[in-house]
Amino acid sequence: MATHKLLLLPGDGIGPEVMAEVKRLLEWLNESGIARFETELGLVGGSAYDAHKVSITDGTMGRAKAADAVIFGAVGGPKWDGVPYEARPEAGLLRLRKELGLFGNLRPAVCYPALADASSLKREAVEGLDIMIVRELTGGVYFGEPKTITDLGNGQKRAVDTQVYDTYEIERIGRVAFDLARKRRNKVTSMEKRNVMKTGVLWHEVMTQLHAREYRDVVLEHQLADSGGMNLVKSPKQFDVIVTDNLFGDMLSDIAAMLTGSLGMLPSASLGEVDAKSKRRKALYEPVHGSAPDIAGKGLANPIAMIASFGMALRYSFDMGALADKLDAAIAAVLAKGLRTADIRSEGTTPVSTAQMGEAILGELKKLHA
Ligand code: IPM
Ligand code: MN
Repeated sequence: MATHKLLLLPGDGIGPEVMAEVKRLLEWLNESGIARFETELGLVGGSAYDAHKVSITDGTMGRAKAADAVIFGAVGGPKWDGVPYEARPEAGLLRLRKELGLFGNLRPAVCYPALADASSLKREAVEGLDIMIVRELTGGVYFGEPKTITDLGNGQKRAVDTQVYDTYEIERIGRVAFDLARKRRNKVTSMEKRNVMKTGVLWHEVMTQLHAREYRDVVLEHQLADSGGMNLVKSPKQFDVIVTDNLFGDMLSDIAAMLTGSLGMLPSASLGEVDAKSKRRKALYEPVHGSAPDIAGKGLANPIAMIASFGMALRYSFDMGALADKLDAAIAAVLAKGLRTADIRSEGTTPVSTAQMGEAILGELKKLHA
């Protein structure tokens, strides 16, 4: 049996609490002989800053590059509001994405039947929802240069962020989206702002050409990102795969998360190019939610997004799709039984802590695997 090397980076706030529930799963997988995972732990974000005055050390970066996959919790919090911009907690995550070349961010938004009433939308609008947001993750305004604040000397300052996209960046994220659509409901919606932005014009052109050249069997549709956002809350079930840039993807995926009932439900996978020699791709798995410092340390956090992110690692890094299916089914079963963390509470359900939710999911997984 192959040994898989994982680097666990719990980070800040609720990160360590939700990561503890992944550790619980890992222990069982190892003990029962279903898989063999070797794990290392590292610091990232504010916790790395407190120890080393940087948001991630070169040493931890090296271990991330050597691992088969990185499992990431969350970073940030008011405690680090005053730290220098370069050392802010989020910089650690952005460095990981950039240096590992994780350009393809998969953010599935699935509405579990038991949670359809926890959504802010009507049950009919979200019941059975299953969309995949494919967000470009290493380009655009997140990384474009110049990125500066200049003092103009007249009591004014000027801030500049730069949105840049090259053809190859749009093509490779397009391929991720089209390939996924072929395994789903065969439809891709590309979102940009070509009515205002040059990057939007190029995005539209490259997606259209890629589709005509290599993916004629898939349905391609274009929407402007603003009305796309509107459609996402108006009739979300019209979408299968949405492909969009780094910033629009950040916003649209938070919106999509709330359709499913809570930000605590959404996992994500960030993938690099497949290495020609090893056939492997660098990968990082993280929940879409943040570090939620207001509820940290209280056992209130929902570990489902974190656990489902580990499920995505099983699926996309370790070719254990059947086990990932069982993990998803275990989550659905626990929700169907009415167990709820605080973020998804509703009348008539049973309140549980972070650890109780993790235990219950493992319990269901054991049953499904028996
Ligand atoms: C996300 C987060 C990050 C982002 C932050 C923490 C830098 O919001 O993964 O969606 O903006 O990409
Ligand atoms: Mn975000």
